[in-house]
Amino acid sequence: MSRKILVTSALPYANGDIHLGHLVGYIQADIWVRFQRMRGHTVFYVCADDAHGTPIMLRAEKEGITPEALIQRVHGEHKRDFNDFGVVFDNYHSTHSPENRAYAEDFYTRLKAAGLIETRAIEQFYDPVKEMFLPDRFIKGECPKCGAADQYGDNCEACGAAYAPTDLKNPRSAVSGVTPELRTSEHFFFKLSHCADFLRVWTASESRPGVRRLPIEAANKMREWLGRDAGRELADWDISRDAPYFGFEIPDAPGKYFYVWLDAPIGYLASFKNLAHKNASISVENYTDASKAAESQTEMVHFIGKDILYFHALFWPAMLEFAGYRTPSQLCVNGFLTIDGAKMSKSRGTFINARSWLDQKLNPEALRYYFASKSNGSMEDVDLNFDDLIARINSDLVGKFINIASRCAGFIEKRFDGKLTAIDDAAAQAFIETWKEGSISAAFDMRDYSRALREIMRLADHANQYINDKKPWELAKHEGKEEELHRVCSTALTLFRDLARYLKPVLPAMVSQVEDFLGIPPLDWQGAWQPLPAGHRVNHYNHLMTRIERARIDALIEANRATLAPTDSTAATKGSSVNPSAQPAAAESSPTINIDDFAKVDLRIARIVEASHVEGAEKLLRLQLDIGEEKPRQVFAGIKSAYAPEALVGRLTVMVANLAPRKMKFGLSEGMVLAASNPATPGIYLLSPDSGAVAGMRIK
Ligand code: MSP
Ligand code: ZN
Repeated sequence: MSRKILVTSALPYANGDIHLGHLVGYIQADIWVRFQRMRGHTVFYVCADDAHGTPIMLRAEKEGITPEALIQRVHGEHKRDFNDFGVVFDNYHSTHSPENRAYAEDFYTRLKAAGLIETRAIEQFYDPVKEMFLPDRFIKGECPKCGAADQYGDNCEACGAAYAPTDLKNPRSAVSGVTPELRTSEHFFFKLSHCADFLRVWTASESRPGVRRLPIEAANKMREWLGRDAGRELADWDISRDAPYFGFEIPDAPGKYFYVWLDAPIGYLASFKNLAHKNASISVENYTDASKAAESQTEMVHFIGKDILYFHALFWPAMLEFAGYRTPSQLCVNGFLTIDGAKMSKSRGTFINARSWLDQKLNPEALRYYFASKSNGSMEDVDLNFDDLIARINSDLVGKFINIASRCAGFIEKRFDGKLTAIDDAAAQAFIETWKEGSISAAFDMRDYSRALREIMRLADHANQYINDKKPWELAKHEGKEEELHRVCSTALTLFRDLARYLKPVLPAMVSQVEDFLGIPPLDWQGAWQPLPAGHRVNHYNHLMTRIERARIDALIEANRATLAPTDSTAATKGSSVNPSAQPAAAESSPTINIDDFAKVDLRIARIVEASHVEGAEKLLRLQLDIGEEKPRQVFAGIKSAYAPEALVGRLTVMVANLAPRKMKFGLSEGMVLAASNPATPGIYLLSPDSGAVAGMRIK
C-alpha cells in the first residue's frame, strides 16, 4: 500500500550557521525521504527556520539590525546550505510567519478551552539596565556546588550540577554585566501535569504494527520518567515570556509572548500549510486533524536530534492531543556529532561550517555517504574521523562503485558506438542472488543506512570480481573476442545501474549524472528487475568523483580555526566546547617594571553612559565614560566586533585616565578602556569590577 507521509526535520535556530553537526540529522532525513519516494510513496518534506526567542533578539541588536532583517538573511543562508548538501525540502518556511501565528493562536485557544492553560505569578531575575527578564542562559555566576566561576544559570559545566539561577553565587546578567534583581511577573502555564496519563500510554505506543512512536531507548527513558512509582509529578510548562521578546504576542495578553518552544514545533504545521498554499492538491487537514488523519492513514514523522527529545516526546504530543490535532507517528532521533572522537571545538578547528566544506571544494556527497555509513538508526553519537572518511570514500565510491563504469564505459563508446548488447544471464543471475534487494530496502526503511551500504558494497565487490575474472582489457587486445568484450561490458553496466539505484537516496547528484551517462529515465525502486536492453545507447562517460586528499581536510580545519567570528558568549552553541588543553598558550610576558612605573598609570572605574556606532569606522565604538568628573570623557574603543552599543550602556569598566588625548579622524579620544584579547582566539573581553565599585574609583 502506498504511504502518505509528512516528514519534518528540526527547525534550526535563525541565529547561527549550519555546521556539520546539524547536517547529521538533516542528511539522515533527506535519505529516508528520497528512499520512500523511490518506493512510490507520497512524501512531503518540510522544514523552517526557528526564528523567535531572546538569543535572536539580542543577536540582531548586537548586529545593529532588526530581528526581521536578521532572520531574513539567515533564512537565505540556511536554505542555500541545505540545498548544496542535497537536503531538498518541499518547503523551507519560518516560524515568524502568518501561518504560524494563526496556528499558535489556535493551539492556545483550544488548550485554554480545554482548561489546560493557567496563569501564575513567578519570581525571575530581571536586568534593570537592559530592562528585561533574563533567560537562564543569560545569567552567569559562581556554581553553588563547586564554586566554579562564570557558570550559566541552569547548570555548571565544571561539576555538572543542575540548579536554579537564583542559586548562583554573585549572579550577573550576561547581557549588561549588572547584578540582576528578582522581580515578580505573571506567566502562562500549560498544565502538562494533567497530561501524564495520556503521555504514559502514548510514549509506549506503536503507530503501526512494529513501528514505535519513540526509539526504544527513548521510550524506556520516558517510562522511568513518567512511571507512577517514580514519585515525580510532571511539572507544568511555562509557555509565556515578558516583553521585550521577539515572538508572537499572546492574544488578549499585551506584553506577554509565546515562549519560542511553544511555536517552534507548530512551525512544522505552518510550513506544511504554506506549502499547501502553493500546491492545491494537498489537503492539510488529512495530515493534521486527528480524525481525518486516522481516516486517511497519513503519517507524520519528525527527525530530531537527541537534545530536543523532551520537547518532541512530551510537550509536543500533549499539545497536539489536547488541541485536537493528530500526534506524531514516529520520532527519528539522531545522536550528536563528534569529530575525531571529541566534541566539536572552535579552538581545534573542528567546529566546521557547512559552507566551508563547499568552499574547500570538498564533495558534499562524500559527507552524505560518510554520515550514512555511520548511521544505524539508533540514538548513538556519530563520530566523524577524517582519515576514516578519506579511506571510506576512496575505497567504496572511487575504488569500487565508480571503478565499474570507468573500466567498461570506454570500450562501449569506442568499440561499439555506445550501444549495448544482450547481457550475460548467468552473471546477472549470480548478481541477483547475492543481491538481497529486500534486505537493502528494509535497512533503508529502518534508517540503518550503515547496513544498507555494507550490502551495496558487497554487491559492488561482486560486480568488480566479475570484471576482474573476465578482464575486458585483455579481451580488447584479442581478435575474435569482440562479442565477449561487448557482453561483459554491457553486463557490467547493468550491474552498475543497479548499484546506482541503491545508492541514489544517498548520492542523488552523482546518480543523476549516472542516469545521464546511461541515457535512462530517473531510477526508482519499483517494478521487476530488467537488464539494460540490447541496442540501448549510452552517452560519453565523464569521471564521477575524484579521490579526497588529506591536504584538503587539513585546509578545511585550518579555515575553521582561522575564520572564526568572535565567540558570542550570549548565544550558547550546541556541541561547541573549548578544550582547555587545546587553548592557545598565554600571551608572552613583558619585561619587569617597578611599582613606580605602574603608579604612573591612572586607572579608574568608569561607567559607560553612552555608546554609539562611529560612521565610517569598522572596529570602533564611541563611548562616553563617567569617571566622577564634571563631564564624561569621550573614548574610541576597538570593540565593535564584540559588543552592541546598547548592551554597554550602564555597565562599569576600567579606563586609563591619564593617557595623552589623541586626535582621531572621528574626534578626540580622551583615554582608553581595558579589554582582554588574544591574537590566537577570537573575542574581546571588556573588564568589569566586582559589584560595589563606583565610577571614579582609583585602581591600585
Ligand atoms: N530550534 C531548535 C529545534 C526546534 S524544532 C521544533 C534547535 N535548533 S538547533 O539549530 O540548535 O538544532 C537543529 C537540529 O540540529 C536539532 O535536531 C539538533 O539536535 C541538531 N544538532 C545541533 N547540533 C548538533 C550536533 N553537534 N550533532 C548532531 N545534531 C546536532 O534545536
Ligand atoms: Zn560546579
